[in-house]
Amino acid sequence: MLVKNIGKLVGIEREGRLRLSGEEMAHLETLDNAWLLVEGDRIKAFGSMDDFVPKADTVVDAEGGMLFPSFCDSHTHLVYAGSREQEFLDKINGLSYAEIAKRGGGILNSADRLHATSEEELYRQAMERIREIISMGTGCVEIKSGYGLTTEDELKMLKVIRRIRETTRLEVKATFLGAHAVARDYIGRQSEYVDKVCEEMIPAVAEAQLAEFVDVFCDKGFFTVEETARIMETGKKYGMRAKIHANELAASGGVQIGVKYGALSVDHLESSGVEEIEALKGSDTMPTLLPGAAFFLGMTYPPAREMMRAGLAVALASDYNPGSSPSGNMRMVASLGAIRMRMTPAEALNAATLNGAYAMGVSKDYGSVSMGKVANFFITKPMPSVEFFLYAYQTPLIRRVFLHGVEQPMQ
Ligand code: NIG
Ligand code: FE
Repeated sequence: MLVKNIGKLVGIEREGRLRLSGEEMAHLETLDNAWLLVEGDRIKAFGSMDDFVPKADTVVDAEGGMLFPSFCDSHTHLVYAGSREQEFLDKINGLSYAEIAKRGGGILNSADRLHATSEEELYRQAMERIREIISMGTGCVEIKSGYGLTTEDELKMLKVIRRIRETTRLEVKATFLGAHAVARDYIGRQSEYVDKVCEEMIPAVAEAQLAEFVDVFCDKGFFTVEETARIMETGKKYGMRAKIHANELAASGGVQIGVKYGALSVDHLESSGVEEIEALKGSDTMPTLLPGAAFFLGMTYPPAREMMRAGLAVALASDYNPGSSPSGNMRMVASLGAIRMRMTPAEALNAATLNGAYAMGVSKDYGSVSMGKVANFFITKPMPSVEFFLYAYQTPLIRRVFLHGVEQPMQ
């Protein structure tokens, strides 16, 4: 397949870098008036329309629109049952996320709903969100469990994630998040719940090969640094690398412990500063920022600029979930990165593509326009500049979406 008349080809990466750090993030390579050739499900070549244009069986005319690599959303909880707009009202009326959780709302509310929902129905609801994010330009997505909180319900969620992987052209990574909250039956017995996560749930998940990563909500009012370390260690024994929720509600120590145990990413980081940045320097751990959650909960945004100034890589993800970020719109996430965290559009787009791919372990094959990578991309309407895409953040600019070289329905 040949895509011709591309006004601007965006997000070219020629050096095979797996992530971009610090100043590297400011540069987004583009090519004007371009073509892109797809063979099978991979990018075969690209070049300028002014030079030689190859022939192909199928020709797609981009009509002067821009072509971007698909977003790589490395942190979501998009398998969930129902919704939680009552808590939205509670928040408007003055309750905080932590207060709602303490009253048995929040994650436990979603766990009750999930328990009462069949696997089939859960899949159906999740697929509505999947179709939505595909039409909004996402091509790779990580999805967490963590609304089950019993072995059986955690497996139910993970099976739905597996089925999404099997029935769509999205690249899907699954993360086991049994330590998302202490299950209702274990309230007051947190250490027994952690025992259960380590001794029963992780072995069961590994046995069924349902998750590549393990996550812990390491934060004030949730799981401690010691519990997080134990769960990461157990996960590692079973071949699951860690991705940690850290420093959302307080400076939890989650970043430092995540780095120490070689976590692939530490996510949220609203409450972090110099010490967390120091801990991340020189590590393989990707700080992943979720501005959609900071926006929805009215929290302070994480210090993206300071991180990049310190030479760190930064990824952006949606956190799509019913409590703190009921949206999987990665373009909006990138716009928030620009508007609220002073990331340039180039930095925000690199963070939402190549660095997001790194944070889910797929940047060798996804996250940029590179020869040999999977042909996951979208085509926009003609735009005056790349910056316009994040600036005019509500205008429906995405016109066509391709995953593995196959055009996807726009809902
Ligand atoms: O990433 N922080 C923990 N977990 C989710 C929220 C989950 C929920 O409220 O349902 C998050 O924000
Ligand atoms: Fe999350």
